[in-house]
Amino acid sequence: MKAVMETYKRLQIAPTRGQGSWLFDDEGNRYLDFIAGISTNSLGHGHPELVKAVQEQAQRLIHCSNLYEIPLQAEVAELLTGATDFDEVFFCNSGTESVEAAIKLARKYAHEKFGPQKYEILTFSRSFHGRTYGGLSATAQPALKEGFGPMLEGFAYAPFGDLETARTMVGPQTAAILVEPIQGEGGVNVPPEGFLGGLRELCDEHEALLIFDEVQTGAGRTGHLYAYQGVGVVPDVLTSAKGLGGGVPVGAMMTREEYASLGPGNHGSTFGGNPLAMAAVRAVLGVVDNPEFLEEVRFKGQVLKNALEKLAEQVPGAEVRGEGLLIGLELGPEVAPRVFEYCLENGLLVNLIGGSTIRLAPPLTVSRTEIRYALDFFRSGVSAVTCVQNEPEMALSA
Ligand SMILES: Cc1ncc(COP(=O)(O)O)c(C=O)c1O
Repeated sequence: MKAVMETYKRLQIAPTRGQGSWLFDDEGNRYLDFIAGISTNSLGHGHPELVKAVQEQAQRLIHCSNLYEIPLQAEVAELLTGATDFDEVFFCNSGTESVEAAIKLARKYAHEKFGPQKYEILTFSRSFHGRTYGGLSATAQPALKEGFGPMLEGFAYAPFGDLETARTMVGPQTAAILVEPIQGEGGVNVPPEGFLGGLRELCDEHEALLIFDEVQTGAGRTGHLYAYQGVGVVPDVLTSAKGLGGGVPVGAMMTREEYASLGPGNHGSTFGGNPLAMAAVRAVLGVVDNPEFLEEVRFKGQVLKNALEKLAEQVPGAEVRGEGLLIGLELGPEVAPRVFEYCLENGLLVNLIGGSTIRLAPPLTVSRTEIRYALDFFRSGVSAVTCVQNEPEMALSA
């Protein structure tokens, strides 16, 4: 009986309850959740403020549609614009929808201001921008597109981190450059120093919009409300989703007033910004948009990163990448899958990307003790795997 379409390769784990950084199933197993619904359960599971906000809002009003004024939507938009460099927000329900909105906004802006020939969007190798046609067309991973062609026209792809090549590809045809400040799905890839600033200059030079896809890096994940705030490069448009609702589906696309090209009838969403989702975002921002909370995220991230870097010294070619609580531990195709298996067997949930990188994205509320606990598993996992690799006979007889 397979009524659910098999679009996911699922692990044989079935959580039915969560508390803080922990997930529980009905068989008495518990798991330390270091992936948080893929960077989404920003406040962990069952956070009292998020639960209360959703419960109370569900009782008052779940949905009414954008046919009407939604005071809570206006309030949350002000919270977001007050905390960022943007003036206006469009609310939707997912990351890919926030990217769709950004693509439409950039093309409409370029069309109105410069004419129909300026529509190209430059994106980067190993990027991930979503599964709908706009997001998928923007995604420079050929394997994800196979069999779904033709893609949307008007995208160009440069190697991630290669400013010189990007420079040769940007011109009067470029409406926007779309980039993740740290690539999440592509392997937790941090661009080289100066890359994002260089893209900013290219956009300024060619009157193109700079769009940061912060679906994965946003809502406090890197220890800043948005990663751009830590980098010091301000984009013109920003997309957000995942952690923004702490698990309640919501997306947002933000921009400055001068680029807000979408008017009535140009774009919309039935569910976008409904009261239930807005109550969740208000609760998440109430916790995350706080300098002390964000400083603690940076501190915990640094502790985790330092310890993983030490551990990586044991594995030739290993590398640790990332910022705040979005960390990739590259262990190579031999070691990574086995350490991943070891973690799973011992109740530590992480995620394997591309067969060679372990991604860690615990709830932002994870405790220092839980970080130490997870590190113990990593240490023994890496030791167990590398010991078997280096000294197979000894390991077998042990
Ligand atoms: C950077 C980025 N953009 C867009 C998306 C798509 O988000 P969603 O799955 O909510 O549509 C993702 C999802 O992983 C992402 O990491």
